[in-house]
Amino acid sequence: MLEGRRILLILSGGIAAYKSLDLIRRLRERGASVRGVMTEAAQHFVTPLSVAALSEEAVYTDLFSLKDESEMGHIRLSREADLIVVAPASADIIARMAAGMANDLATTTLLATDKPVLIAPTMNLQMWAHAATQANVALLDKRGILRVGPGSGDLACGEVGSGRMAEPLEIVAVIESFFHRSTQLKGRRAIVTSGPTHEPIDPVRFIANRSSGKQGHAIAAALARMGAETILVSGPTVEPDPAGVRVIRIETARDMLAACEASLPADIAVCAAAVADWRVETPPQQKLKKEGSGAPPALKLVENPDILATLSGAGNRRPRLVVGFAAETEKIVEHAKAKRARKGCDWILANDVSPATGTFGGDSNTIHLVDGTGVEDWPALSKSDVAARLAQRIASYFDAVKAAE
Ligand code: PMT
Repeated sequence: MLEGRRILLILSGGIAAYKSLDLIRRLRERGASVRGVMTEAAQHFVTPLSVAALSEEAVYTDLFSLKDESEMGHIRLSREADLIVVAPASADIIARMAAGMANDLATTTLLATDKPVLIAPTMNLQMWAHAATQANVALLDKRGILRVGPGSGDLACGEVGSGRMAEPLEIVAVIESFFHRSTQLKGRRAIVTSGPTHEPIDPVRFIANRSSGKQGHAIAAALARMGAETILVSGPTVEPDPAGVRVIRIETARDMLAACEASLPADIAVCAAAVADWRVETPPQQKLKKEGSGAPPALKLVENPDILATLSGAGNRRPRLVVGFAAETEKIVEHAKAKRARKGCDWILANDVSPATGTFGGDSNTIHLVDGTGVEDWPALSKSDVAARLAQRIASYFDAVKAAE
């Protein structure tokens, strides 16, 4: 099942490190090669010799080892793997990963890598429940770090609760499903827009909206996970760049359009950005002054280009499938149908953005997908589940296209 896969296994300090020895055996039984990196703390629980004997590979422990650096080097270590697995992942290494620290070989490797990372947390239940650990784990989840566990049960410290490292076979199952994840969109190229745009009023002020970019970023991540070459054109947001996605950061609607057009040709376009409909016609070069100006300034607004409509009408450069969103506060489906017709996209995902729904900026969304055949009502889902469902629907669409060709 894992023939030819190269796993870099990072062991941090935790009693569950003994289970990682079994994990090495299980991975190798399935054909994977395993190379070990150990933190100093890990070496208090199991020895490098055990890891080396089971993996039949050298074990790396020291960032400043002249021998290791000349033979392998932390950059090569981080790149010569298909997947990095941190097991056990202690509260300490999770915190250092979240902070982007690089103060030993393990964390330097994790910071230098361009490969996917899976963590198997383990710690005392209070440490796991601590707000700092929960915030760190949430940040890693958001960055696309994969996670298995922790489970609940008897802990080595004598307490009972959440904090047990997943069993080796559970970790192996996650690794197997990672390598056999869908490649349904391999060979397809996708452009996704996300977040708000900022339209300058003067050099220090701008017109914007409440979009966080969570929905658009989740869609880009989901398409990339299904194998699509994905370009995310994002307005200003604090969302981290999704793993495996090329991100182009822009400010204004005109920048967003230029970036999307420069990214053509593409098979798929998903416009989830909340693009400002209007901009100030000629923002002044200097800050508008309140003092001595008498009346408040009258801003002359002009219409911004419509990216969704432009991509939908791009002639022979039009992506095969163009998907828009409709942010509505009333007559959701009725307005979405009219918007789909007006903008010329294939599908439109209508969502209610009335303040009470918390759709703007929140973590969940309720979608009504309108296409040429009718309306599909989705239940309330997390934004990442909306993204996964949309990516799956897009993949099925292209499967049908392929079958018909
Ligand atoms: O970012 P989040 O906080 O996660 O919130 C997600 C969201 C609510 C922003 C998202 O789900 C959503 O609804 N995005 C579309 C927001 C919007 O501007 O909708 P609209 O109905 O005004 O525009 C319709 C469509 O045209 C959208 O696909 C929009 O991206 C596109 N558009 C609009 C104007 C414009 N000048 N160019 C465009 O491409």
